[in-house]
Amino acid sequence: MKLTDQQLEEFEKTGYVFIPECFSKEEAAVLRAAADDVYALDREEIWHEKTGAPRTAFAAHTYNDAFRLLGAHPRLIEPVEQLLGGRLYMHQYKVNAKAAFEGEVWQWHQDYGTWKRDDDMPEPRAMNISVFLDEVTPVNGPLMIIPGSHKAGVLDAGHDLDTTSYPLWTLDKATVKRLAEEGGIIAPTGPAGSMLVFHCNLVHASPPNISPWDRTIVYLSLCEVSNHIRKFERKEWIAHRDFTPIDALADDCLMELVEKRKTMQAAE
Ligand code: SIN
Ligand code: MN
Repeated sequence: MKLTDQQLEEFEKTGYVFIPECFSKEEAAVLRAAADDVYALDREEIWHEKTGAPRTAFAAHTYNDAFRLLGAHPRLIEPVEQLLGGRLYMHQYKVNAKAAFEGEVWQWHQDYGTWKRDDDMPEPRAMNISVFLDEVTPVNGPLMIIPGSHKAGVLDAGHDLDTTSYPLWTLDKATVKRLAEEGGIIAPTGPAGSMLVFHCNLVHASPPNISPWDRTIVYLSLCEVSNHIRKFERKEWIAHRDFTPIDALADDCLMELVEKRKTMQAAE
């Protein structure tokens, strides 16, 4: 799948492209069921909120088949290869639960700020892809982004080790206010299967989810291979060390799991 000239132009200006229903309802349902499977595992890669609700499953593509297939899906590999002009490896892979009533805040930040400071990634030649596994609405803790903020470069940030269960380089209030007054704040919403591609310097955050509806989103961070990280201090399953270029699979690669799920449901 390739982005159109209009989408490329939109990306250049705003730092993101939103593609509602990029994955079918059935494909999204397979991935959503896979999220429940991984959250039920007892593994160090799976982090929880203070309440015990799941927060993030890191590196899920290394221990779950559906997430392995998504990690090499042409609907995300091809547009990102197009945007970065080269082959890609997976820098980070997170399945973020943001569970009904329990999902906690993600403070304002830029992902590349963390990758530069913590992992020594040379350039912001990496991209975030988020795929909605539940419907995302204005009330279930949607991702909020500041359009155009990717042009600000790497902004000063403080290392937040307290307010959430995940250490993050976060931006101060004055910086967020200035950028938001320039670019506004938007929250892409849409059905499960929608996909958001966003620049690794785009400023983003998300509020807690106090609604009764889950908001599961998978975030894949793809980096151009020659721009691989140079510092190996974080866990391998947070900042990956396998820089092998990803070969995109066939567009229907999730369909076998879709069919398997249908057969299982029919037998129930
Ligand atoms: C992130 O910024 O990496 C996650 C935000 C979210 O899940 O809302
Ligand atoms: Mn982020």
